[in-house]
Amino acid sequence: MATAEQIKALIKSHYDLDAERFSTIALQMAAYEAQKGHKSLAYELKSIVNKGKKSPLKVINRSDALSDLILWREPEDRLSSIILPDDLKVRIERILREFYQRNKLNKYGLSHRRKILLSGPPGTGKTMTASVIAGELDLNYYVILTDKIVTKYMGETAAKLRQIFDFISKNAGVYLFDEFDAIGAERGRDNEVGEMRRVLNSFLQFIENDKSNSFIIAATNNIDSLDQALFRRFDDVLFYELPNKNQGLRLMENKLSSFQKTFDLSKLPFKEFIGLSYSEIAQACDDAVKETVLSDKKKITRQILISMLQNRKKIYRTDKHK
Ligand SMILES: Nc1ncnc2c1ncn2[C@@H]1O[C@H](COP(=O)(O)OP(=O)(O)O)[C@@H](O)[C@H]1O
Ligand SMILES: [Mg+2]
Repeated sequence: MATAEQIKALIKSHYDLDAERFSTIALQMAAYEAQKGHKSLAYELKSIVNKGKKSPLKVINRSDALSDLILWREPEDRLSSIILPDDLKVRIERILREFYQRNKLNKYGLSHRRKILLSGPPGTGKTMTASVIAGELDLNYYVILTDKIVTKYMGETAAKLRQIFDFISKNAGVYLFDEFDAIGAERGRDNEVGEMRRVLNSFLQFIENDKSNSFIIAATNNIDSLDQALFRRFDDVLFYELPNKNQGLRLMENKLSSFQKTFDLSKLPFKEFIGLSYSEIAQACDDAVKETVLSDKKKITRQILISMLQNRKKIYRTDKHK
């Protein structure tokens, strides 16, 4: 059996939400059992730890302290599937390269760029970028529900943020603060209580003090609302835009690549999809495929694709006039 010290340390690390320490102690226990000749128990312990490491959110779930604010996600996107202007792609590649070679940088007292602000209209690839970084670097990917921290924990938002940053420092990964304007909005436009000002101040302090290796990525649709003091806390700010003709066509080529078409997609005029986001174009392509499959046709027609793009435009317009 494990020693009393090991059991105590294991329980403590669980309540401290210290997943890394938890795994280390569990592995020590496995080594201890192996020494005593309990080979199969040692093996079982090791495989439980290895499996658990792949879905670390379980550690949060059990204590339930942050499970409604931090979601663990499978990073499903790769760099090859995101379409971006060349300069943005280069910037993302640089983020990846600095991480790969972070030890080299550390020797010169430098750290890899890992606090990143993403700005741009909805559906242009901000969330996808966070998932690409996690996917390419094989890191755990977490989404933080920023607006929920503020609305659900009004009055104790700063305390929740502290717990989140604690978690970030102990669990290496990519952390996306989605809907970041919920805490990043300018301090001037405050309510009487001053809660939001305190929250933003705490965030500024936490992000500045964070010395982990984790990526802290904040995404906003509304960069103009953000407090100026935020900008210098980030290592990089990336601006996303709606696709131009070429980017829109490339996205459609990708989305429809496994289907035969009765027309030349590369000749589709820009007016058919101008103003739509990547996300809306991707959805229109999925709709066109569904329609084709459901009506037992073998090939996608120009008409079906155009009508699905038009539907997306209608949704977009009605949304805008709400
Ligand atoms: N730049 C892009 N390249 C390829 N697909 C994209 C791009 N941007 C968005 N998409 C598609 O739209 C979906 C939603 O985009 P998302 O990254 O959530 O947008 P945002 O976070 O900017 O609102 C993605 O999962 C992807 O399928
Ligand atoms: Mg998003």
